Amino acid sequence: MKIMTVFGTRPEAIKMAPLVKKLTEDPEIQSVLCVTAQHREMLDQVLSLFELHPDYDLNIMKPNQTISMITANVLTGMEPVLQKEKPDMVLVHGDTSTTFVTALAAFYQQIPVGHVEAGLRTFDKYSPFPEEMNRVMTGHIADLHFAPTGRNRDNLLRESIADENIVITGNTVIDALLWVTEKPYEFEDETLSAIDFDNKRVIAVTCHRRENLGENMVHIFSAIRDIAAEFDDVEIVYPVHMNPRVRETASEILGGMQNVHLIEPLQYQPFSNLMAKSYFIVTDSGGVQEEAPSLGKPVLVVRRETERPEAIEAGTVRLAGVERDTIYSMMRELLTDEQVYRKMAHAENPYGDGQACRRIVEALKKRFGS
Ligand code: UD1
Ligand code: UDP
Repeated sequence: MKIMTVFGTRPEAIKMAPLVKKLTEDPEIQSVLCVTAQHREMLDQVLSLFELHPDYDLNIMKPNQTISMITANVLTGMEPVLQKEKPDMVLVHGDTSTTFVTALAAFYQQIPVGHVEAGLRTFDKYSPFPEEMNRVMTGHIADLHFAPTGRNRDNLLRESIADENIVITGNTVIDALLWVTEKPYEFEDETLSAIDFDNKRVIAVTCHRRENLGENMVHIFSAIRDIAAEFDDVEIVYPVHMNPRVRETASEILGGMQNVHLIEPLQYQPFSNLMAKSYFIVTDSGGVQEEAPSLGKPVLVVRRETERPEAIEAGTVRLAGVERDTIYSMMRELLTDEQVYRKMAHAENPYGDGQACRRIVEALKKRFGS
């Protein structure tokens, strides 16, 4: 059984790394790894942490790339790789442009597709953009759907995906998080090791979504600035995404403040430890919404919607929207109202038990094994 895994960005790499490790270890499976490198440095950080060595690297990333550029380069780049390897199945993850376009390229070669992290939906075509349509289109190309939760499975059933092709697995992000937090870790980063986590309240921030670029980001960063100016026992730590448009707005609004630390993207191990030591998290990331509940850290999601309602039901995640006043008030409430804080800061794990990769490998063997 030959299985080809393809991914291109940081979050796909983190969530697929434990699966690639399992596929590679299995004597019944020939595992081939192809990266599109839609991200470069942020992808390489993950490859090096998990010691993954891709068989193919399309190296497509361009500064300020548009979605059309990614689409064209992945589509033409994947064609010869798929023609040469002819795998029994191509595995893609989630909702990036690498995900959808790789699924499309595999379809053009009539190669079956397995979709890991299938069935997430906001039902808003333009939010998150372009991820919502990427997941819908990938879902309709895929032959096997690995849904993290029962709700994700229900979303697929509503779109007439056959039940026998859906497997509920949990989210592989929990497998990755457990792998990375297994060993004790001390920060090597100078800024992080200088922070007094015992006496300061640290707020970890990430923000990168395309639909937040521009005006929304100005609102989000202004609210964070207001909080940093008001509370002198607060330290903001923001590892800034490498998108130049994000960097520009972040340094314009948050640069030069003594208790705001704009740092380079962190390796996954220090980042998960930063989350674990933070007071709370402000983010528009998808993955962070899944990790934080199992770390017991309150999360304010700076988006209008989420495809991860399980985390909201678990009580650790709240939607803060993208308006400056609302974000400021919700951050302030978490800093000043112990009861509200305590209600959110408890560990719940709606996204699985760290066994998602094992279930995916079992399902692949059931489908393709002799
Ligand atoms: C992409 C995905 C998004 C995912 C996010 C995770 C699409 C359309 N978007 O968005 O779904 O949530 O990754 O982070 O698939 N850059 C670097 N080095 C890197 C990474 C990015 O310099 O290692 C810069 C480049 O200038 C690049 C830009 O960031 O052009 C944007 O990268 P891109 O992958 O197009 O979009 P993201 O916002 O990262
Ligand atoms: N992450 C990381 N270093 C950072 C910021 C985030 O390793 O500096 C991890 C985070 O723990 C999560 C993933 O990257 O697993 C989220 O990636 P991103 O926010 O880029 O994408 P999204 O989840 O929104 O698709």
